[in-house]
Amino acid sequence: MTILVTGATGMVGRLVVERLVAAGARVRALTRSPGTARLPEGIEVVAGDLADPSTLVSAFGGVQRMYLFPVPATAREVVAGAVGAGVRHIVVLSSGAVTTGFDTDFHLPVEQAVEASGVAWTHVRPGEFMLNKLWLWGPSIRADRVVREPFPDTAWYPVHERDIADVAVTALLQSGHAGRVYDVNGPQLISHRDQVRAIAEAIGEDVRLEVVTPDRARQHYREQGGFAAANADFLLGFEDYSGNDTAPTAEAFGPAFTGPLPTAEQVTGRPARTFAAWAHDHADDFR
Ligand SMILES: NC(=O)c1ccc[n+]([C@@H]2O[C@H](COP(=O)([O-])OP(=O)(O)OC[C@H]3O[C@@H](n4cnc5c(N)ncnc54)[C@H](OP(=O)(O)O)[C@@H]3O)[C@@H](O)[C@H]2O)c1
Repeated sequence: MTILVTGATGMVGRLVVERLVAAGARVRALTRSPGTARLPEGIEVVAGDLADPSTLVSAFGGVQRMYLFPVPATAREVVAGAVGAGVRHIVVLSSGAVTTGFDTDFHLPVEQAVEASGVAWTHVRPGEFMLNKLWLWGPSIRADRVVREPFPDTAWYPVHERDIADVAVTALLQSGHAGRVYDVNGPQLISHRDQVRAIAEAIGEDVRLEVVTPDRARQHYREQGGFAAANADFLLGFEDYSGNDTAPTAEAFGPAFTGPLPTAEQVTGRPARTFAAWAHDHADDFR
């Protein structure tokens, strides 16, 4: 059985590839840039662009199962191509925002395209990635051992990327997951303040938490560029999920879920990883 992994060079996608290879599965990895993809030896790497379904024809040949990175604009054509070529089960990297009703135009249409095709499906809906803190706080921690944060007591259930990948891989390899929706959150409600503490402990050095205004934090993230700049307005509460303007308040970040979900443990058989474990896994990235 050949499993096609799209988004294979992504933070989650690479782990999906790693886990599938470790399980002895035959993996084909899709990337737009095979020359720079740095994917494991021994797997098949194919070029293709999910935004251009005409580039995917050869990628689908002989594939039975697929991990689908979400690209909404072309999802229907991509899924039609996959199913027409014989793919029987698609595991979608979706978002917990579909469950909470905030996401109606990004991950939801990808899920709907897969369901409408008649193929067997599993939707993996992660909540906030722990990784976001590496993209947001990593530069200032590495440079000055400081985090500039307007809402230190805001808490959430961030999820380790390895738990997301483990859930996806379980759905790809085992039977019994078709037609299932898996919301995947982390195991503990943890405030930004405690997240900073966990990172400090992991790197073995003090990290100062500097409480700043939302405007100051936005300016800082915009100057930082990349993920921080692209997501500053949403993550700091200046806009809601639909992009409408809002006023940042700590209350706006109240959890939409009432508690951690035991999904990762139920699906994979092992407890979800804590933020402290994640910080240790990424200690070198913060140093
Ligand atoms: N951050 C969060 O808190 C959060 C929460 C819920 C859900 N999510 C979802 O999770 C996703 C992030 O997953 P991730 O961290 O594994 O991804 P990632 O690290 O952002 O990487 C995505 C990979 O997808 C590939 N890709 C992007 N556009 C493509 C296209 N048009 N055709 C083919 N490949 C394409 C790229 O590979 P190549 O450049 O090699 O082609 C890239 O390496 C988000 O996009 C979001 O949908 C995120």
